[in-house]
Amino acid sequence: MERRKMAAGKQKYYLTTPIYYTNGLPHIGHTYSTIVCDTIRRYKRMRGYDVVLTTGTDEHGINVERSAKQAGIAESEFVAKMAAQWKALWDELGVQGDEFIRTTDLKHAHTVQWLFKLCRENGYVYPGHYTGQYCIYDNAYVDVKPGENCPDCGRPTETVTEPNYFFKLSAFQKPLLDFYAKNPDFIQPEARRNEVLSFVEGELRDLSITRTTVRWGIPVPGEEPHVFYVWFDALTAYLSAVGGPQYEKVGYWPADLHLVGKEIIRFHAVYWPAFLMAAGLPIPKQIWAHGWLLMDSAKMSKSLGNVVRPRPIVRVLGMDALRYYLLRETVFGQDGNFSYDALVQRYNSDLANGLGNLASRTAAMIEKNCGGRIPKASEKLAQDDELAKIAQATIGDVLEEYEALGFSRALEAIWALIAATDKYLTSGHPWSLGESEADQKRRGTILWTTAQVLRVVTVLTHPVLPESTAKVWALLGETGALGAVDLDGLAWGQLAPGAALGKSQALFPRIEKADAIERMEAMEKEAQNAPSPVAATTPAAAPAAAGAAAAPAAPAPAEKIGIEDFAKVEMRVGQIKTAERIVGADKLLKLTVDIGTEIRQICAGIAQFYEPEKLIGRKVAVVVNLAPRKLRGVESNGMIVAASVGPEGRPVLAGFPDEDVEIGARLK
Ligand code: MSP
Repeated sequence: MERRKMAAGKQKYYLTTPIYYTNGLPHIGHTYSTIVCDTIRRYKRMRGYDVVLTTGTDEHGINVERSAKQAGIAESEFVAKMAAQWKALWDELGVQGDEFIRTTDLKHAHTVQWLFKLCRENGYVYPGHYTGQYCIYDNAYVDVKPGENCPDCGRPTETVTEPNYFFKLSAFQKPLLDFYAKNPDFIQPEARRNEVLSFVEGELRDLSITRTTVRWGIPVPGEEPHVFYVWFDALTAYLSAVGGPQYEKVGYWPADLHLVGKEIIRFHAVYWPAFLMAAGLPIPKQIWAHGWLLMDSAKMSKSLGNVVRPRPIVRVLGMDALRYYLLRETVFGQDGNFSYDALVQRYNSDLANGLGNLASRTAAMIEKNCGGRIPKASEKLAQDDELAKIAQATIGDVLEEYEALGFSRALEAIWALIAATDKYLTSGHPWSLGESEADQKRRGTILWTTAQVLRVVTVLTHPVLPESTAKVWALLGETGALGAVDLDGLAWGQLAPGAALGKSQALFPRIEKADAIERMEAMEKEAQNAPSPVAATTPAAAPAAAGAAAAPAAPAPAEKIGIEDFAKVEMRVGQIKTAERIVGADKLLKLTVDIGTEIRQICAGIAQFYEPEKLIGRKVAVVVNLAPRKLRGVESNGMIVAASVGPEGRPVLAGFPDEDVEIGARLK
């Protein structure tokens, strides 16, 4: 609130990320949307706006009911734990969210109920019946034809009809088309606009917006057991976050920008404005649908199992490296490919050798030759003026690109300025100038010019690289908050001669590519194998992989395997001979295990639950025919079997307490 008071008089700008489902954890696809919004938020603030960014979690529905049940905890506890995970990650990525809305927040329930009441009073809601194919095993409607089986569990579906409320979307065909015509920039980019237009021009069918078969949702007042269904609930979160029924008093509605992935454009550009029109509420100004992050040419998604998590990248390369890569590598609006190789390549070439190197060598030369103070520029030559001109032009170009969400082009322009400066330094070679007065003057002018470039680059890249630019800012001896610098006032030559440089801090240490990739991949695998932070996601009776190998997802309870499948897994009794912790991997223990025919080295993710010394001599069940792989750079050849117990998935080693079984005996 304090911030808002201080911001009085400034123009308001409200933007949102999608609110993310809590039945999963963030991967870098979600991270992409959030980082883009955070960059816009920082940029807009630097242009003097009073910005509010809302992100949050979409916590209702059948999937959460199921996940909570599987975890053996109440839905409310499940979503609270998951929402905390999402929030914590955004903090780690430097995301400055102003509002974190959860669809289980009371204020959100009130807003949804209020919106429904308005739509109903205005005659756009009516009771009816919804008919669909229902899977009684999964308790959910599935998108198949009558007679077809459930795509999730493979069992027969039934045609079910349930009472529910419909929203008269069909009444909004003309109002929507008129609205799009009057607001040609409402849907971005152009291709998505065309897609939406042709959808609305076709037959717009009324929408079912409540359910009686779902329990975990916001109740429709006086109409229990009806609860609001998916999108009527989720979209309204954008409004709940900024006052709901009191939106006028709070002052941020309508939103300036809803940023979403392209798969949910229709909900945002058709349903949402229709709900708001029906209620007589203001409509957001723009919906921007960005492309997907692809992995091996497919959309990165949990269901495809091709996800990459942000944390390993942040741990190895830093949060700015991930932010830079995501914004630089993909043209905003188009799909982009993720690869660890390209990520580390970008890190080394652009961040370590580009920005990092420019900052450290400029500072080192000023330190060595100018007593650590910004020198004077005397007797400028054509090349000095030329670089100044490039820098000035870059400021204009970058602001224009940011304004149009052209992040990759903005960064390209900034890096072209860095390249021009490197060239300028090479041809001016201040390091080889002597101590004559003329040489000193020339060196002073070159270093003044380079320091000015560095200041411009630092301010311009701040929205994308908040952590490292703050270090360069301090290095340049600047003391005010970088995020509060006025971008519109940014100009050439604002670093005053005589000002003392600040302390030098490591920016982007160069990194060996293969090693960095191996570390990130190992952490990613470890995260994939780790028990869910909320609860065991494997069925209670299934043994959990405490060991190293990439355990394939446990089969769904319904899926049966033949004995020949089980026979493929060679499990034997092993005895632990040595056990030690691995530096830098606090979950892993490195074990040597006698399996009868040989001694194997195996890593197990049990370090937080077992003291290494107490394991020595213990007999355990070992999967011996798993392909060897490296975890955190340590070879692991096999897997120790453990049960996954309790909500946090604590591993408990499988053992043989009743009889002294022979080492090497096979488990069948
Ligand atoms: N809960 C809904 C959104 C409701 S908004 C009122 C939802 N949630 S989600 O968790 O599935 O997140 C979807 C969003 O995450 C996408 O719209 C997109 O912004 C982002 N991404 C998820 N996977 C992505 C990629 N592979 N690539 C880029 N962004 C992706 O849908």
